[in-house]
Amino acid sequence: MSAMRLGLLTGGGDCPGLNAVIRAAVRKGIDEHGDQLIGFRNGWRGVLEDFQEELTIESVRGILPRGGTILGSSRTNPARRPDGTATVRACLERHRLDGLIAIGGEDTLGAASQLSLDGINVIGVPKTIDNDLGATDQTFGFDTALQVASDAIDRLHTTAESHHRILVVEVMGRNAGWIALHSGLAGGADVILIPEIPFDIDEVCRLIGRRHGRGRYFSIVVAAEGAMPIAGTMSVATGELDEFGHPRLGGIGQALEREIESRTGYETRATVLGHVQRGGTPTAFDRVLATRLGLAAVDAAHAGEWGTMIALHATEIEPVRLADAVAEVRRVPVAEYERYGVLFG
Ligand code: F6P
Repeated sequence: MSAMRLGLLTGGGDCPGLNAVIRAAVRKGIDEHGDQLIGFRNGWRGVLEDFQEELTIESVRGILPRGGTILGSSRTNPARRPDGTATVRACLERHRLDGLIAIGGEDTLGAASQLSLDGINVIGVPKTIDNDLGATDQTFGFDTALQVASDAIDRLHTTAESHHRILVVEVMGRNAGWIALHSGLAGGADVILIPEIPFDIDEVCRLIGRRHGRGRYFSIVVAAEGAMPIAGTMSVATGELDEFGHPRLGGIGQALEREIESRTGYETRATVLGHVQRGGTPTAFDRVLATRLGLAAVDAAHAGEWGTMIALHATEIEPVRLADAVAEVRRVPVAEYERYGVLFG
């Protein structure tokens, strides 16, 4: 197919590997097809406000190992604006773009899916450290976040043991507990709490007490930020909502610190890993996955496969329907979590 003009954007929470996708798409588009690529700044906001720049081989040099996104990001949602689709369409026409490559998580791709139904040419590339997108086996960014979280757990282990403390580690994951489960498993946590399964604080304290009974006077509790106690006995939301209507979470670590210490009498401290998990250089796995997705997104554009998302299935990269990809969040199956129960406490 002849050369195309393509727009690129990165939306939602940033994620290690975004720059690797941009670089791969730009190199392939320009060198293999003679394409022109326009980078929109700050996610969908850049398309709505027409804030963009041309991406060239030169402008993407050296970005492969860099965290974050050279394009900037935002949580602006065009589907929430009454004139959103018309403004996006006008922007594409103004720049004579054949289509857009939107790199994002469930929100950015949800908007992409809606725009695609409205007739806008768009291809999605899945990203999120949370690893909770449907229709793909793993998202880039997850491996990096996991490495950061498990490194932190290893470090907390030695100080927990020295001081005979219970250390609670709050990791990201508002709807899905993949980071908590995998970092907890990798770090040998004694309790892992995930959003999918409301936890029983009595059981948490029983597991910690059992360890003490066996002569282990320290414990590591890993809690996803979206973990909730049964019957909502501890408040963890701030009450604020972002533009996609998600509550800003935070506080389960501190709530557990108070509760565990008062119930068991053991000294307990909480560490909130927060945005450390999202920042910095991507792992080799995430760089390679992101590169493969960037190359495949350009292939999909040239094949006219609009309305698709580029997915990882086992070891293969292939397009799936965007609408299917955003239909539901991929959560940790209860049976999967329960399989590891034998390792707790
Ligand atoms: O979607 C990724 C994520 O890291 C979530 O785990 C977390 O709840 C959210 O982003 C927080 O992002 P921000 O602080 O940018 O709103």
